[in-house]
Amino acid sequence: MPHQPHDHVESLPGILQNAPIGPFTTFKVGGPATYLIEVRSRDELVNAIRAARTDQVPFFVLGGGSNVLVADKGFEGLAIMIRSHGVTIEGKHVIVEAGTPLQRFVQETNKAGLTGLEYMMGIPGSVGGAVAGNAGTSEKWISEKIFQVWMLNAGSEVQRISKSDCNFSYRNSRFKYSRTEIVLAAEFDLEPGSKEETRKLALQYIGRRKHQPSGDACAGCIFKNPPEMSAGKLIEQAGLKEKRIGGAYISSEHGNFIVNIGNASAEDIAILISYIKQQIRDKFGVQLQEEVRYIGF
Ligand code: EPU
Repeated sequence: MPHQPHDHVESLPGILQNAPIGPFTTFKVGGPATYLIEVRSRDELVNAIRAARTDQVPFFVLGGGSNVLVADKGFEGLAIMIRSHGVTIEGKHVIVEAGTPLQRFVQETNKAGLTGLEYMMGIPGSVGGAVAGNAGTSEKWISEKIFQVWMLNAGSEVQRISKSDCNFSYRNSRFKYSRTEIVLAAEFDLEPGSKEETRKLALQYIGRRKHQPSGDACAGCIFKNPPEMSAGKLIEQAGLKEKRIGGAYISSEHGNFIVNIGNASAEDIAILISYIKQQIRDKFGVQLQEEVRYIGF
């Protein structure tokens, strides 16, 4: 980090110094951030980013922390944890703040008699993270129901952009690896649906996740599925299930899940990821690509 005063960052209300990031991630892994802040509204988020830009402090934002691997050495800069909750329903149109837990959002739309997002049931994380990573099943992604997104742009201005400008593709969007554009909120168009039907549909999608490890310290699927293939199945076929490096372990239930079975370091996990990639390349000639995002590496 450039050596200059960080007055704006240091005077943000609630700012912590040298605070561990690991507890904010589902892997429960990762060293400290020079600065860490939890923001509870769109304004607080915008203020934190503007302060970091003014002081030239690198920053990243985290929603539910369910799809990231944070380095053991942590992050030199400001870690911003988004906790802005809020779901506003206007007929079939729903506006949701980035920090809202995804599950709560889907449940609230169902309670209001709306349907369309049941395939997101059982996915951890926040709405902002799900939008940035275009979360979903292998075939149906959250972007399907998005109408437009509110973001903070590189000039620290709030900007509304249409879905077609978000560059959504399988587990990707213009926001996923962007260091300058941050999702603040998203707007969805849903359909009216009977509560009984939506409940059935939700249970059906939760059932599809039964063979995935639940309650473990993991980050969902590590790799994207290669076209027409399942990464988990390839990993199983390569005989890699239950392979362990340090505290990082390939789930016996689903090959595409790495579980922290106690005191895994980020390095254990990163080495296991690279071992899997090498094995799958050698055995099947397929290059796996991470779905998880690396921070501080
Ligand atoms: N399979 C195996 N062995 C394994 C894992 C899977 O043989 O270890 C087989 C399954 O039996 C099934 C096929 O592979 O026949 C597909 O498996 P699954 O239904 O688990 O789906 P997936 O393609 O592995 C995708 C998403 C998941 C999502 C599920 C269910 C990706 C990378 N993964 O997994 O999303 O939960 O469909 O909708 O697209 C995530 O992205 O983090 C995630 C968990």
